[in-house]
Amino acid sequence: MQGMGKPIIVLDFGAQYSKLIARRVRESNVYSVIVPFNAPLDSIRALDPVGIIFSGGPASVHAAGSPMPDPKVFELGVPILGICYGVQLFAHLLGGKVERSDRREYGIAHLENDDTSGFLAGVDARTQVWMSHGDAISIMPPGFQVIGRTENCPYAAIVKPDVRFYGVQFHPEVVHTPQGSQILSNFVHTICGCAPDWTMGSFVERAIADIRKRVGGKRVLCALSGGVDSSVAAMLIHRAVGDQLTCVFVNNGLLRKGEAELVQQVFRENFHIDLRYIDAERRFVTELAGIEEPEAKRKIIGRVFIEVFEEEAARLGHNDFLAQGTLYPDVIESMSATGGPSAIIKSHHNVGGLPETMQLELLEPLRELFKDEVRAAGKELGLPDDIVWRHPFPGPGLGVRCIGAITKERLDTLRDADAIFIDEIKKAGLYGEIWQALVCLLPVKSVGVQGDERTYEEVCSLRAVTSEDAMTADWYRFPPDVLQRVANRICNEVKHINRVLYDVTSKPPGTIEWE
Ligand code: XMP
Repeated sequence: MQGMGKPIIVLDFGAQYSKLIARRVRESNVYSVIVPFNAPLDSIRALDPVGIIFSGGPASVHAAGSPMPDPKVFELGVPILGICYGVQLFAHLLGGKVERSDRREYGIAHLENDDTSGFLAGVDARTQVWMSHGDAISIMPPGFQVIGRTENCPYAAIVKPDVRFYGVQFHPEVVHTPQGSQILSNFVHTICGCAPDWTMGSFVERAIADIRKRVGGKRVLCALSGGVDSSVAAMLIHRAVGDQLTCVFVNNGLLRKGEAELVQQVFRENFHIDLRYIDAERRFVTELAGIEEPEAKRKIIGRVFIEVFEEEAARLGHNDFLAQGTLYPDVIESMSATGGPSAIIKSHHNVGGLPETMQLELLEPLRELFKDEVRAAGKELGLPDDIVWRHPFPGPGLGVRCIGAITKERLDTLRDADAIFIDEIKKAGLYGEIWQALVCLLPVKSVGVQGDERTYEEVCSLRAVTSEDAMTADWYRFPPDVLQRVANRICNEVKHINRVLYDVTSKPPGTIEWE
């Protein structure tokens, strides 16, 4: 992005924690980007970094083909912080030695430090840290000094002051290192001299200026879903180019209760955005009739969405750009040195496929942001909490939660049950603690007794999970009285449900959605 401050580069050696390191740096209000370990030196230089962090990684420096940086990275003249595998690279490449340690260290350890360089300023003389390594430095590279040690690791924190290289064997980015954020903040502020100028206020200003410059007098089309990403993207573009933006909102009949109304009220009435509302419920439900196979449902929903959207776009006349709410984790995934996800578990449908067929240029104003930053930007732009803090909702919507054959009646049943579940979660003050809560309507019927009468009706399953990023998830431990209220209300208020289950499967082995 134009005018962005110089970044801290996180050089990624395949660590599961690289994204977390970049996020922690940004939480110190410093801009950071992730770059694959094998990026050519020129591309690193072109980013003009103020400092570099070598991430950890699963490899051993001695393994054949283990990831190595261009050695000239040490000559860039900027401070470097090596974490775990990253600090072992210092020893391996700068004249020390790394060996498999007799005592591997996983979990909590206690760091004793006597640092005077400022790197560990504000950190207790003895502090808890998180270790996860098999190899360790056995001979220090020349010129380095030890500034911290743990019981099993004599070289847990090291420094070479003249060139400002710092290394830690533990992981400052994880929550189990309670003073880790302080250490990363010291590195970026004290050692690298970064100003705390990465804020969502400054991001919004720069993004608006950038969009204005890029779009000029041209026209932008945005498929608005009402989710936080497309909402924030639309708001930014609207602030930048006003009525040159047209948003299209497709009601596919698979939305949550009140969702279509909320989106129209917020964007058209509050923010005066040119919003075209397309009621395509009938068309989607007709196309989905009789289809039970999850992937087949997804494909139909994706295809019909593109058809409906393209028809509307044709009616609107010429557009130049298509806005998308692509986020930084998607960008990192697509350029990752270690490759993206190897197996497609579910074919995710968003607005993929549109740009190729419509020959529009992509406008992706959120490419730099992590999810929590998108929410902060949304707040900054005045979006209501209902949108900013909404739980994630899949593109195919209730289509993948209405298990078995989809009918309008079953969708209405599911929508009502879902609304009760969310309402009770909000009333109990638990909405913010839960990553995602949803109801699935199952393809089984059960016998019940309601008002002295035998019933034979539908069964639904509640699902609520906690998660950091949807890659893994744990089921949420509700107080039993909340579950009881939800079950009572669903059986009493929703016409065709007579039995309510609670799903206690984590991910893995389950996925968050049922289909
Ligand atoms: P799973 O079910 O794979 O879901 O554990 C992980 C996260 O992704 C969401 N999800 C989707 N989002 N299009 C989307 O935009 C999709 O097709 C889709 N399928 C799943 C899901 O709700 C959860 O947050």
